[in-house]
Amino acid sequence: METKTAKLLDGKALGLKIREQLSTTIAQLQSKVGRAPGLAVLMVGDDAASAAYVRNKERACNKVGIVSFNRHFPFATSFSELQDVIKGLNNDERVDGILVQLPLPPHLDSVALLHEIATDKDVDGLHPLNLGRLLRGESGLRSCTPAGVMRLLKEYSIPLEGKQAVVLGRSILVGKPMSLMLLEANATVTMAHSRTKNLQDITKNADILVSAVGIPQLITADMVKDGAVVVDVGINRITDENGKSRLIGDVNFDQVVTVADYLTPVPGGIGPMTVAMLLQNTVYSYQSTVSC
Ligand code: GUN
Repeated sequence: METKTAKLLDGKALGLKIREQLSTTIAQLQSKVGRAPGLAVLMVGDDAASAAYVRNKERACNKVGIVSFNRHFPFATSFSELQDVIKGLNNDERVDGILVQLPLPPHLDSVALLHEIATDKDVDGLHPLNLGRLLRGESGLRSCTPAGVMRLLKEYSIPLEGKQAVVLGRSILVGKPMSLMLLEANATVTMAHSRTKNLQDITKNADILVSAVGIPQLITADMVKDGAVVVDVGINRITDENGKSRLIGDVNFDQVVTVADYLTPVPGGIGPMTVAMLLQNTVYSYQSTVSC
């Protein structure tokens, strides 16, 4: 019997297409607004993975014509210092988006800090007001990673209405907003997490399976329904048997690719979609300044 191979959901290609469209929009709007859009990414400490994400965001901004106002702070930076910086950025007319790269060092209360960001500059969609808007089904700035998943599923015309969707992970960054967005698209959503019992029984029922738990290769072929759509949000850096560092997802790709109908690769799946949605949110905030 011939082995089946899932179709790959190409986030890299779609991310690039979205970025090209944003470049055109920015070029058209710039003379009207009198300036380019601006994004400020704040990073505290020296976490290597966070530093790589921030560099990636800055590079993507430069390519589409968004000006970066990034700030990098030492690990020991105090809450009040960051609060003052955010206040300054809230009032800075050159800045359309503000993002605090997570995780923060343990002495800083990230939820309290996210409250400080002006809601119309909250391009990460993590301010309680924007999360509340999502909960109520109102329009507003939406969290980038789950928004990127929804956009990618839409690109491939994957039906969601009435489907069984299972989301693994309940973080504020991905799991919770992801579940709400799938619910909004009329899927029947189950949220599973680290305390869930009999995980396989739950994942086996999923027409759409989204994993965002950060456990390398957790999802094996026996956990996936034949013909499922599997979205791998995990980005885990491992050292392989040859001593080489590389990125792998939450999904055992080689196994699941033989069971699923659609699968996102890591890298090249959801990672580039997150960046594209961040740029899109920044341009959306920028556009709103013209229409005000
Ligand atoms: N850390 C890892 N991914 C993200 C993200 O999308 N936004 C923020 N703020 N922090 C992150």
